[in-house]
Parts: sequence; C-alpha cells; structure tokens
Amino acid sequence: MPNWDAVKRHESETLLELFDKDKNRVNALTFNAAGLRIDMSKTHLADETLDAFQSIALEMDLLGKREALLSGAIINPTEGRSALHIAERGIGADQAVTEAKLLQGRMKALIEAIDAGAMGEIKHILHVGIGGSALGPKLLMDALGREESRYDVAIVSNVDGAAMAEAVKNFDPQKTLLAVASKTFTTTETLMNAQSAMEWMQEGGVADTLGRVIALTANPEKALEFGVDESRILPFNENVGGRYSLWCSIGFPAAIGLGWEVYSEILEGAAAMDAHFANSDISENAPVLAAFADLYYTQVKGVQTRAVFAYDERLCLLPDYLQQLEMESNGKSVTSEGVPIDYASAPITWGGVGTDAQHAVFQLLHQGTHLIPVEFIASKTPGHDFDPAHHETLLTNCFAQGAALMAGRSNDDKARSYEGNRPSTTILIDDVTPAALGALIAYYEHRTFVNAVMLGINPFDQFGVELGKEIAKQISQDGPSGFDPSTSALMKAAFE
Ligand code: F6P
Repeated sequence: MPNWDAVKRHESETLLELFDKDKNRVNALTFNAAGLRIDMSKTHLADETLDAFQSIALEMDLLGKREALLSGAIINPTEGRSALHIAERGIGADQAVTEAKLLQGRMKALIEAIDAGAMGEIKHILHVGIGGSALGPKLLMDALGREESRYDVAIVSNVDGAAMAEAVKNFDPQKTLLAVASKTFTTTETLMNAQSAMEWMQEGGVADTLGRVIALTANPEKALEFGVDESRILPFNENVGGRYSLWCSIGFPAAIGLGWEVYSEILEGAAAMDAHFANSDISENAPVLAAFADLYYTQVKGVQTRAVFAYDERLCLLPDYLQQLEMESNGKSVTSEGVPIDYASAPITWGGVGTDAQHAVFQLLHQGTHLIPVEFIASKTPGHDFDPAHHETLLTNCFAQGAALMAGRSNDDKARSYEGNRPSTTILIDDVTPAALGALIAYYEHRTFVNAVMLGINPFDQFGVELGKEIAKQISQDGPSGFDPSTSALMKAAFE
C-alpha cells in the first residue's frame, strides 16, 4: 500500500508563489504529448512533491506495471486477465496485436460489404449498447461526425423506451441496420432495446429482421444464440475492458459512419500517446504527472471531486465518457490483493461544457468551500464557419477562468472576495481531429491506470455494478415482497 507521508510532509506554497519562485514554471510543467499541449503549471506540483511521488511510484512498481500493461501480461488480478485495449492500437505482444488487426480487418470487410449493398439499401445505423458499449462511440460520433457522416448514426443506451423512440423517429426501418453492442451479450437493457428495435423494423415491413442485425461482442456464442448470423458477428477479445472497447468492434458506428480512414487515424492518435506513455521518463510523462497532481489533491488536500470542462461543443460528451472511465475504473475500496484501503480512491468526476458551465456551476468553483481541481480542454481551431469572434470569445473565457481561479481577488467586502489559489490544468489541441481525439482518450486511459497503480488498486474490474443488477432481476422475478419497506412501498405505488 502506498505511503503518502512523504507527499504530505511538503506544505505547498500558493500557486502564485510557485510562479514567483520559478520563472520557468510554464515550460517546466507544460508537456507536448502526441499533439496535445498539457499545461499543469497551475497545479500545486512542485519539485519536492514530484520527488516524493516519484519515490512512491517506484515503491508501487509503476514501471513494472506499465511494462505489464503494455506487454499484455496479467494486470487485472481479480479476473486473471490482461488488458488488451492497447493491442488494438498496435502495441503489445505480437499475438495480441495480430489478433486485434485480424478482427479489425473483419470489421473493415463487413463495412465494405455494407457499403456495397450486401445488406440491402442502408441509410441509418441504429447502435444499441450501454456503458462502455455506448459512451465511446457516442463521443466519437458527436466529436467527429457533426459535419458529415456516411450514414445517419443513432446510439441508444437507456432502457427507457423514450430514448429508442427519439432515435428512430426519422429513420426508415427498411433502410436501417441494427448494431447490437455488448461485450457480454447478456446486458438486460441492450437486449431489450435490440428486441424493440427489431419489432420496430418488423412493423415497418422488414421481413427478416435478424438479417439486418450485426453483433459487436466478446461473447459470440451468445450472439449466435440470439440468432445473429456468424458472418455478421464482429468479435473482440474478452481482455479488452468494456470502458476501453471503442478501439475494437464496439467502435463500429464510428468506423462505418466516419469511414475507415478516419477511424484508423483515431487509433493512430491513441498509439502516439501510447508511445509517449511507454517511452517517456516519469519526470516528463504527461499521464504520470497528471496522475500525481490528481493524487496530490485527493491524498493531501482531501478533495472529493474533479471537474472537466470542454471549451468546445464537439467535446461536450467528454465528461460523460470520463465519468465511466475514471469512476468505474478507480472507484474501489480495496487493493488489488483485497486489502481495505484507508485513503481516498478515485474522486468523483463531473463537468460540462464552457461557456455554459460558467453561468451555472462556476460560482461554487470560485467561491464555494470545496476545493475542486478543474480541467479545461480547448481547441485552437473552431468547429464552425461563423465569425471567428465566437472562438476568440470562447478561448478567452476558458483562459480567464483558469487565471481567475488561480489569482483570485481580495475585497474588503467578503461576499465580493475570491480567495484564489484554486488549481486547474489546461489541455490545448490544434483541432478536434481524429488523431487528437484518439490521443486525448488514450491520455486519460493511461492517467487512470497510473492513478490505480499508485493507489494499489485494480482498475480493470467493476464488481460494484453487479449488486444493483442482481437486485433489479430479483425484483422483476419476485415482485415487491421480500425487500426493505421503502423499496416494497415504491414497487406497490408504481405497479399496483
Ligand atoms: O454495468 C457496467 C458494465 O458492465 C460496464 O462495465 C460495461 O461497459 C457495461 O456494463 C455494458 O456491458 P456490456 O458491454 O457487456 O453490455
């Protein structure tokens, strides 16, 4: 288990003092990694804290664990698995990389066949999946598919039928292909949505609805049982975690919607970040240093949340995506060996889009009693052709927020006083390109991994989500009796 004492011993100076002390601070704490400019200078990282974190990293065998991850060794001990998402980007053990390439080739071939009309005239792609089987594809399509997409793509995750109704309202059932995305192919919501989508197609005059279904899964047997033809099952390795699966066939809607070339660029962008993570020294390794800053705030300052604001509409789904990545990975209470931890694990990730958030939640960030590290993500190039003043205003606001959080401003009237010294990190990219987005997502994956290693926990399992699923099944089988009085009363009120 990590010993945070060495980090806690160094009482950090204020951010302004740190800048005063070191005129080179911006350069020293700004990293260019795979096209991302990551400025951590407005965090409290200082030489002593960095040294202390480096010692903990060595104690926690960060380098050995990094090697294990990258080489495809067992890194998920509770399930006895490796974590092979990086192999999808061409890095790792030869066998894993070869298999990933083979399966990606199969996806490409199916897309080419669909393009050529093998499944009839297809205009719309209806993708059903949830959690990691939806959040990644949604982010990719929303970020990169706004201007043009080769097909209309709708991604339905919620079991609330209203989500499905909204998704298909402008779709022609006769021209729709249904992609059922589920690593396990057992997820209740996804299977129910798949059934409803098939009923909608049937009512719309499609005779062979199963003939319009493709399956994206690590459990092809279940997809076969469901009735999907083997030729339309796109499998992936079960050692690719759900929340890391947009790099394999779960990325199908992006690959078909954006085109194979664009999808490949996303993978290449991620591979460039993998190379940075794999080859950079700890002292210059952006995901590692970002994790050190995360841990400084949770372990030393006791923060409970971190906020991510995309100052670019194209990235407005990034906070949602990161919530699953970070909270499902590192929201744990025991070490990889099952020992209860006596320090905080992952903070709550939340956020939104700038400048909207400034007029909703930033009051608390500037003057509330909670200390909340903030992350800004912005692009130099706008995603539109309107007056450039829009983008200038957007970026100016983004930078102004970081400056104001740090500098604060005192006032004799306490209600109008800002204490400042509030940390932020700013990630600037040239444009929301496929490669930049791939690199950005991979950056967060590695940062999440480093956090886990430093915390001594396993980021690749998610047993915490199982209990609620079990109870939901039990309620639907056994009815309202046998539960606590509140749950039974709610059931009665809703269903009787
Ligand atoms: O319930 C959580 C979870 O298991 C996630 O980890 C996963 O991304 C999601 O459900 C969907 O699972 P599947 O892809 O197996 O349908």
